[in-house]
Amino acid sequence: MSNTIVETVEGQTEVFKPNPEDLAIGIDIGGTGMKGGVVDIRTGNLVSERFRIPTPSPATPEACAEVVVQIVEELQSRELAPAPDSSIGIDFPAVVKNGITLSAANVDESWVGADLEGIMSAALGGRRVHALNDADAAGLAEAHYGVGRDHGGLIAVITLGTGIGSALINEGNLIPNTELGHLEIDGHDAESRASARAREREDLSWKKYGKRLQRYFTHVEMLFSPDLFVIGGGISKNPQKFLPYFEDDVRTPIVMATLRNNAGIVGAALWAAGWDHTND
Ligand code: BGC
Repeated sequence: MSNTIVETVEGQTEVFKPNPEDLAIGIDIGGTGMKGGVVDIRTGNLVSERFRIPTPSPATPEACAEVVVQIVEELQSRELAPAPDSSIGIDFPAVVKNGITLSAANVDESWVGADLEGIMSAALGGRRVHALNDADAAGLAEAHYGVGRDHGGLIAVITLGTGIGSALINEGNLIPNTELGHLEIDGHDAESRASARAREREDLSWKKYGKRLQRYFTHVEMLFSPDLFVIGGGISKNPQKFLPYFEDDVRTPIVMATLRNNAGIVGAALWAAGWDHTND
């Protein structure tokens, strides 16, 4: 996996070894694991194996910063590594505005108002950090490299997991922090009824869960009229279980995410590289 395979115009494959400036580190902070990888930003591929450490408990900003340092040290020491002064991208499962985490729906309360970028950057000896919401990272990755790559218009990426995450990408541009998992539908916070965890918690049949997704997706469609829905999260591995129960009721085409577990890492790396390459 150490080289990037690129399809040439003639349809043949060639191997191009990436230069350090083609690479960026992305880190995905989740409820159970913190995962990092070195991403070739030309293709969205990881150039080596990702590195995962369980999320500390309690997952305070300081405890997470220690783990981030370990992940960066490991990835930076690899044969294919980005320039040591390049920005690090980090995604986090909450609203992230100007580097500050403003909510904590499924994470430690101490994150509300925490300076994620500042804390991580200080722990990393001043290296620049650019942070964004987890679903925004996954959505960016899908829109740029994954299933939305050749799709214009408005793409709505909805991740179904512990919560419901959302990303809106219009003509390749992210509209951050949309938090559509917290739409109030029929008097309920949407994610409390339609996340993958809600299905498990209430032991719902796929049919019943499909009905909830129908209510959710038709509502989001009515509000935003996207051109494409992308469903992410572990559940997207088995669309046949739930999609047949609501696909026909939604006008917008629905596809499953393709980058799976790495979408957050890839999107965070792309986000960070975007800042570094702004003046290229
Ligand atoms: C949070 C979002 C997050 C989503 C998925 C929601 O509970 O409010 O910020 O993107 O979960 O992790």
